[in-house]
Amino acid sequence: MYSENIKQKFSDLFNQAPEIIVRAPGRINLIGEHTDYNDGFVLPAAIDKAIYFAVSKRDDRTIKLFAYDLDDAYEFSLDNLTKSDKGWANFLIGMVAEITKNNDKLTQGFNVVFGGDVPLGAGLSSSAAVESGIGFALNQLYGFELSSIDLALTAQQAEHNFAGVKCGIMDMFASIHGKDKAVIKLDCRDLSYEYFPFNTSAYAIILCNSGVKHNLGDSEYNKRRAECEEGISILQGPYPQVDSLRDVTMHMLRSHADKLPQIVYNRCRYVVEEINRVELACKDLLNDDFVAFGEKMYETHDGLSELYEVSCEELDFLVEQTRDNEAVAGSRMMGGGFGGCTINLVKKEAVDDFLVEMGKAYESQFGQKLESYRVAITNGVEEI
Ligand code: GLA
Repeated sequence: MYSENIKQKFSDLFNQAPEIIVRAPGRINLIGEHTDYNDGFVLPAAIDKAIYFAVSKRDDRTIKLFAYDLDDAYEFSLDNLTKSDKGWANFLIGMVAEITKNNDKLTQGFNVVFGGDVPLGAGLSSSAAVESGIGFALNQLYGFELSSIDLALTAQQAEHNFAGVKCGIMDMFASIHGKDKAVIKLDCRDLSYEYFPFNTSAYAIILCNSGVKHNLGDSEYNKRRAECEEGISILQGPYPQVDSLRDVTMHMLRSHADKLPQIVYNRCRYVVEEINRVELACKDLLNDDFVAFGEKMYETHDGLSELYEVSCEELDFLVEQTRDNEAVAGSRMMGGGFGGCTINLVKKEAVDDFLVEMGKAYESQFGQKLESYRVAITNGVEEI
């Protein structure tokens, strides 16, 4: 349906059919949070909520963007790739700017209409979907021959340089490399990855959207990154071989606890524990042990809330509500934090009751309706 609307709008605006239609999904992350920029492991997947793009080349050097959901347009030139005051346009300008840094094949402009159903500010990486989607479409149209990994790295640079968030690689990697019914175990140190079957015959994946938009998130996110770097530079004193928190064990950290400020110690402890947790959680998946997997999700939440301090009252409340619910294997805040969604593994037969109970509890606590989504794992970015 979305792709049809986008296609129709494209024809109305530009009097031609698009040359390509692309679907770029949002992502979830089962476990492994704030580990990507610490060279650790993550376990994300692409989902059935996506941004769709209709794109055609132009003969001149103009680029015309239309954001369908915002009903807003923006125009710029290949000769002037600077930031716009329209936040949404920067993800696309950023991608074009990063592509042209290493590539001289983008010589003509293009028209694009895009939009979809990835909720904004909900921690489902709508921005990475926008970057991955336009990057993929241009790669196909102009034949840049960028590999899928190059595409993800380019999108990460666009986010760093045009959105100002020093994000890791997880979001764009997942949007690009997603695979139906599988999670991606990505080693963020060397970008090697393997797919793990996610056998959801017993459990459904439910996202509960706190409705809190993570505005504070960007600056706090960059701060967490800096705190991890501070930890590494202190630990490099006794351990010169340490390059990232991936190289640090709890034993090393404890042995030098007195050298680290308490906050920095807490941040490092969370990351070191989380990197180990992902490895153990993957074993649970291989054993089809969702109960053990779910327990680790709760441990992750506790670490994110107490040690890494990126949760908020609403997210803590949503997770708390599930702790005594036997139909829930695991629950935790997902993504960068300070708002967005919790991810919950809920027995399929109990989903309806879960949604009703959570909705009631949230409304009586915060006076606000709870939006929840049942999501399925899908392929990554693709031409449709
Ligand atoms: C955001 C970032 C990712 C990752 C997560 C936390 O989604 O974009 O790179 O760091 O937060 O795991």
